[in-house]
Order: sequence, then C-alpha cells, then structure tokens
Amino acid sequence: MASNRRCRRYAAANNKGGVGKSTLICRLAEELAARGHRVLVGDGDPQGNVSRMLGHNEEALLQRPTINEVVLAARPGCAADAILPCAWDQLDDMPNEVYELAQRIDLLPARFDYELRLGEAAGHEPGSAMARHARQRLAVALSGGVLDEYDFFLMDLPPSIGPLTHMGLDAISDVEDEEEAGGVIIPLYPDYDPISGAVRMRDLVTAGARDWERPFLRTAGVVINRFDPHRKKSQERDYLPFAKDTFAGQLIGPVFHERAPIAEVGSLGYPLRSQPNWRIRDNVKEFGQVVEVMEKGRVAA
Ligand SMILES: Nc1ncnc2c1ncn2[C@@H]1O[C@H](COP(=O)(O)OP(=O)(O)OP(=O)(O)O)[C@@H](O)[C@H]1O
Ligand SMILES: [Mg+2]
Repeated sequence: MASNRRCRRYAAANNKGGVGKSTLICRLAEELAARGHRVLVGDGDPQGNVSRMLGHNEEALLQRPTINEVVLAARPGCAADAILPCAWDQLDDMPNEVYELAQRIDLLPARFDYELRLGEAAGHEPGSAMARHARQRLAVALSGGVLDEYDFFLMDLPPSIGPLTHMGLDAISDVEDEEEAGGVIIPLYPDYDPISGAVRMRDLVTAGARDWERPFLRTAGVVINRFDPHRKKSQERDYLPFAKDTFAGQLIGPVFHERAPIAEVGSLGYPLRSQPNWRIRDNVKEFGQVVEVMEKGRVAA
C-alpha cells in the first residue's frame, strides 16, 4: 500500500561501550510500536546485539543479506532486500500485545562481518570525494522510498567514533526537513568514562553537521541510564551532578536506574511486555517519556 508517511530518524551513540545504546534502541522501538507507530530498526553494529534482541541470532543471519551486503552494494533502495520482520511473533505463550508489537517492527540486521566495511572508508583522505562516497553508502541504500513505510527509523551504532558510526550518522541525517529530522540520542551511565565518551560523540555530531553538510545532524538528547543506587556514593555525589551539568538543556527522559527486568528481557531477546505488568510498569512509563520527546521531534540545542 502506498504511503505518505514521514519517517523520523534517530540513532543511539556513545564512544563508550555498555552504556545501553542497544537496549535503548530496542525498548524505544517497542514503546513506539505500542503506540501504533511503524518502526524500522537499523543495526549498525557488527556485534549484532539489536538483531539478536529482536529475535535474529547470528546463525540465522548467516544465510541472509544484512547491512554488510547492503552497504557493499550501495544502490538506491537496496536496503529493502535485507529488511526482515521482528521475530517476537515466533515466541511461545506471549500476551497478544507482543504479537501485535512484532507486526509493527522491522529490522535491517547486522552480522560480525559488517566490520569489513570499515576498510573502504578508512582508506580515503578525509574531506575527499571518495571519503564522502564511502560515508554515504548507507544513506544511498536507504533512499528511494525504503523508509516511506515507517514512522521512525532507529539506528544502533557501535561504541566508536570511526567510519561505521560516520556512516550511520550520515544516514539518519539524510533528510529534507524538520518533519523527518530526529537526531542522535546519547546514553551514558554516571561515571567518568561514559560522560567523556558522550562528550566526544556530541562533538563528532557537531563536526559532522558542518563538515559533511548535513544540517539536520544534531544531538537529540542525552539519556542517563544504569544509575545504580548501590554505588550511591560515587555516582550520586560526583558523577550524576557532573553528567547533569555537562549536558544541561540536553537531558531527556528520567534517570533510568539499573533494573533487573531491563537486563533480563534484553538477554532473552524478549520485549518488556513479555513480563507481567506489575514488574515492568515503571520501565514502560519511563521509556514512554523518551518516546514522547521523540514524537515531537526537535528536543535539544
Ligand atoms: N537500565 C538498565 N538496567 C539494567 N541493565 C541494563 C540497563 N541498561 C542496559 N543494561 C544492560 O547493560 C548491558 C549493556 O547494555 P547494552 O548492550 O545496551 O549497551 P551498549 O551501549 O549497546 O553496549 P555496546 O557498546 O557494547 O554496544 C546489557 O547487559 C544490558 O542488558
Ligand atoms: Mg550495543
């Protein structure tokens, strides 16, 4: 069916690993789908974590085209060849809601060999036409109407400020106007390294907007995640205020605590809504707060 949908594009990125990028992408996709939106999740990380969390493990993906083949081909629209549905509808004994969510989420999956695509980008002089061509391969693959079926495109990125991240940032900012512009969501946990990784990512986003001529490339917001009350001393006294100060005006959503159901459903490759309501009520509400901001579009300076 033809559609005039405008697809808003976001990525999760931080130069630090383990801050919750992939977790956030999956939980936000779930929350957006629960509100009736159609979502395409792009896995831009050779670790393939969101692919697995949406039900497609590495073994199953060996026989299928993934983002690796899509970027290698780099033809307008060719990303469509690798898109597949979220596999939550293959899970047994789930609440009906889970099957409905799965209908609204698709995935552009990744395998470990996406790492090989670093090569073409890394060999070129920064600022050259070849470097630009290499960086824009994913944007080209997603062009030509691939995103017309979706309300949101969410891209997971590796903990790197290198070429694969550049390619993902370029793809989410290949938009014409505010209706499609989202931006980069930077998760962190309150500690020194994740905060400095977030600052480096924010700087890369600013530099990318300028150097790559992508005016809609911007930081959409910073999410504080994995706050651990058992580490209250250093986190609450030192790094939570440091994070709040460093990203004043850019923070979105609540402070997410380290919570067992979030880790458990990620590990199982299930949606939060696979769990009893009493167990996940607060989490659903909190991810919903981020989604409300994403639905509105522009959020941070
Ligand atoms: N709020 C949370 N509560 C509990 N566990 C969490 C929370 N957020 C993330 N985690 C857990 O922390 C770990 C790291 O999360 P995740 O894989 O999403 O981080 P990442 O930034 O994508 O990592 P990488 O840089 O390796 O891609 C996972 O085991 C995940 O389940
Ligand atoms: Mg990840």
